[in-house]
Amino acid sequence: MTTIGQPLDRVDGGVKTTGAAKFAAEHFYPGLTHAVLVHATISRGRITALHTDEASAVPGVVAVLTHLNAPPLKPAPKPGAFNLTVMFSGTSVNYLQSDEVHWEGQPIAVVVAETSAAAREAAALVRAEYTVTKSVVDFEGSEQDARPQPNNPLLPRGAKKGDAEAALKAAPVSLDLRYTTPPQNHNALELHATTANWDGDRLTVYDATQAIDWFRTHLALRFGVPRTNVRVLAPFVGGAFGGKSAIWPGTILAVMAARATDRPVRLVLSRESVYRTVGGRTPSIQRVALGADRDGRLTSLIHTSITRTGPIGGPFEQVTAASQHLYAAENILARHDLVSLDLLPNTFMRAPGEAIGTFAVESAIDELACELGMDPIELRMRNETAVDPIGGRKKFSHRRLRELYALGAERFDWHERNPEPRSTRDGRWLVGTGVATAFHRALTLPVNVTVRLSADGGVLVRCGFHEMGMGAATAQAQITADALGVPFDAVRVEYGDSALPLGPFAGASAQTASVAAGVVQACEELKQTLKSMARKTGGGTNEEILRRAKVPHVEAVVGSDTRLGRIAGRARFLPNFLLDAQRWVKAASGVHFCEVKVDAETGETRVSRWAGVFDIGRVINPKTAASQMRGGIVMGLGLAMAEETLVDPRTGRIMNPSLAEYHVPVHADIPPIDVSFLDDPDPKMPLGILGAGEVSTAGVGAAVANAVHHATGKRVRDLPITLDKLL
Ligand code: MOS
Repeated sequence: MTTIGQPLDRVDGGVKTTGAAKFAAEHFYPGLTHAVLVHATISRGRITALHTDEASAVPGVVAVLTHLNAPPLKPAPKPGAFNLTVMFSGTSVNYLQSDEVHWEGQPIAVVVAETSAAAREAAALVRAEYTVTKSVVDFEGSEQDARPQPNNPLLPRGAKKGDAEAALKAAPVSLDLRYTTPPQNHNALELHATTANWDGDRLTVYDATQAIDWFRTHLALRFGVPRTNVRVLAPFVGGAFGGKSAIWPGTILAVMAARATDRPVRLVLSRESVYRTVGGRTPSIQRVALGADRDGRLTSLIHTSITRTGPIGGPFEQVTAASQHLYAAENILARHDLVSLDLLPNTFMRAPGEAIGTFAVESAIDELACELGMDPIELRMRNETAVDPIGGRKKFSHRRLRELYALGAERFDWHERNPEPRSTRDGRWLVGTGVATAFHRALTLPVNVTVRLSADGGVLVRCGFHEMGMGAATAQAQITADALGVPFDAVRVEYGDSALPLGPFAGASAQTASVAAGVVQACEELKQTLKSMARKTGGGTNEEILRRAKVPHVEAVVGSDTRLGRIAGRARFLPNFLLDAQRWVKAASGVHFCEVKVDAETGETRVSRWAGVFDIGRVINPKTAASQMRGGIVMGLGLAMAEETLVDPRTGRIMNPSLAEYHVPVHADIPPIDVSFLDDPDPKMPLGILGAGEVSTAGVGAAVANAVHHATGKRVRDLPITLDKLL
């Protein structure tokens, strides 16, 4: 391998830094119109009157679509225990098809105009009257109504080993703690945007999506046209983080508006509309109870969570997914409960479940270490395990937490700390350090790929995957170059277009490994073809073989995009997936080391040092991978210290839908972040790749909370850790 492992620059770097890369809202059609959403201002009820005359009279307005005049839309897939597709539907609401309102912010009208200014002006003039029905919107107030997560064999579940409650009672040392995390919203730099154009009953959509294939299927379903008539393109996506996986009303209503007006439509959500129509992260109430003997061996580990879902959808979050596999406790109880609220459904947000679950469990482990007077790394090592703690037939495909802790402790000078809280000062600052484990399950999804070698030596890889800024195309070019033994520069990768062979959705940190599996298989087949050609025509370079055989190129095709081919692909995938999940725990892991300085008077907290060490299996490109980890850590710092969606508990209205009032970290908040990798291939994953997207966000909240405790002696069990909680 010569190209894999090199810190190459991104192949898309040039077009991005020069502004030549076109994003979803930058594609133009003659006669392009602009659409803006109008949001409901009640959380549940019916529209009794809609006043649109004033809006329609604004010069340049082409149409004001409401439930009274919108074209028909086929119903969305209904939420159901076995229906995973609903996760990708955003909500189950059939937009502009009835007078019903299901959440505060639901689109009740779309204004289409010749300019975006006219559309915005007119949208502000649409007025609605309502009858209001009782709704339940208060998460914390609904705690007592929590119900168990519905059973679904395809989703991660809770777990039970022994009698954890009894063991907790009997334990010489025990803790029983409550942690809470607030709702959070997506704030990708690129706003959600759609450019839609109908040509008869053929539809072309440029969308800021991380799931082109699902968007294509979904739009075909909703608008009643064959899948083959729909093309979804997302050549560049300006950050997604899970918020562009499901199809939200903006995309559907842009397509509807284009159909209703017979004009191409561009719809760019305002930042406020992103908050009102794109789901965020669920809030959580978590209990972590730990029982241990005096040597720190865990006898009981209990982690339960309450998150939210609702009558119109929303995936549940596998909050205990990491806790179930981290420690060799004799007795374990993990469970997930849900409350149903009349709000916009939550969705995937980087490390869904793990990000908030690891905050609780890794804070609690630190609390136990303090209770025992033991170093928190030592406590973790005493409970480190080579077999899956839940038992059964499951094995870890790969587990390197000991090496990670050793490497990170050295890079961070961990052992030089004075373990006593409030023991270190730097002028007015109290200085503290904290550590926490990151863990994220690894997965591969089915993909189709073609790889073509031309007589001029060029290689073209085609697969409908996504480039959201993480260097996906660069990584696949590196993999192809090594698999075929050609130079990196000879490889070109096409992606981000549903007309290409089926790619995976860019989520669950699964894209690199999934596409790699297809690329490697295609390259192997191509090499076989070349070998048999060489036998006939005599050996030589690839180019010579093709020239002598008088063919312009040879191609290998993995998978089939016909209807039957896709069904066959799924039929092969599913049993393997289920069997694999029963046998192996595959996961990327990591350790975060954090230093904070807390102003002794004001509680102002600055993160002053950070080291993250990760096991993501084989590292294809250490430069892009490290960047991705830094981004994940920054997002984790947002979760730890700043981000909080404020939902009015009376009305369900999001009160801070803007970057002015919803705080995310800025450059001045972020110290240099030291990232290192073990670069140890996982034997059970394609090319040994475990996936890098999400593991870096898991554990960050706890590392900060533990450092803040070390600095100040105060435990904050409620995110975000803002200065008012330290006074
Ligand atoms: Mo991810 S939260 O599956 O983009």
